[in-house]
Amino acid sequence: MQIYRRENYEAMSRQAADILAEQIISKPDSVLGLATGSSPIGLYRLLSDRHRAGELDFSRVTTVNLDEYKGLGPSNPRSYRYFMQENLFDHVNIPADRSFLPDGLAADDAAECARYDALLEAVGPIDLQLLGLGNNGHIGFNEPGDFFSAGTHCVALSESTCAANSRFFACESEVPRFAYTMGIGSIMHARRILLIVSGEAKAEILHKALKGPITPWVPASVLQLHRDVVVVGDDAALALF
Ligand code: GLP
Repeated sequence: MQIYRRENYEAMSRQAADILAEQIISKPDSVLGLATGSSPIGLYRLLSDRHRAGELDFSRVTTVNLDEYKGLGPSNPRSYRYFMQENLFDHVNIPADRSFLPDGLAADDAAECARYDALLEAVGPIDLQLLGLGNNGHIGFNEPGDFFSAGTHCVALSESTCAANSRFFACESEVPRFAYTMGIGSIMHARRILLIVSGEAKAEILHKALKGPITPWVPASVLQLHRDVVVVGDDAALALF
């Protein structure tokens, strides 16, 4: 595991953007696993800037996102599809039919999970999987629990996750209670993983995840078992290292 420590969110985003840019330049047909949340917004902005400046070509890139809220469609500004369009896809040249997320409006959970797993299998393996870290140690929407899940599944979001994500909604009661997420098995299958973490609120859980026991109660702790993980954190998030 390689850990980059940068002074703040901007510097963290720059470092992460360099790693992603290097991936795309060295393998233009890369399959990128992407994440949502506050952590990657700066990184997506920098990638968009580099594309605009003619430095980065996404025309052969494929993307697969980690997760999507159940019940939210692409036109809902709170959906992760909308987030991705707004923060990255609308600003770069990834072909429209080469960016994938679970379908929040799927009628049948089991069928949607099977569809997404088949899709991951067909486009994969993921060359670089980007991850943020949930306050309770979740990655994607793999919440703490009794076991590490293998494939895509529909999860009941924990109260702490709904509370943390309520900042993106008008109020907490609007946060969907369920989501589709890629499984830990699929995340671990990626060739390389890039975890980005910022802010003092994440310091303790980041330390637990990377230095504590490997347990499904801290889902990100599984990353200790992956052979190629890069962590980019800011000083505040890495305060306990
Ligand atoms: C959400 C997403 C995760 C993300 C996490 C952390 O729950 N499903 O993929 O990593 O939030 O978000 P943030 O970066 O906003 O702290």
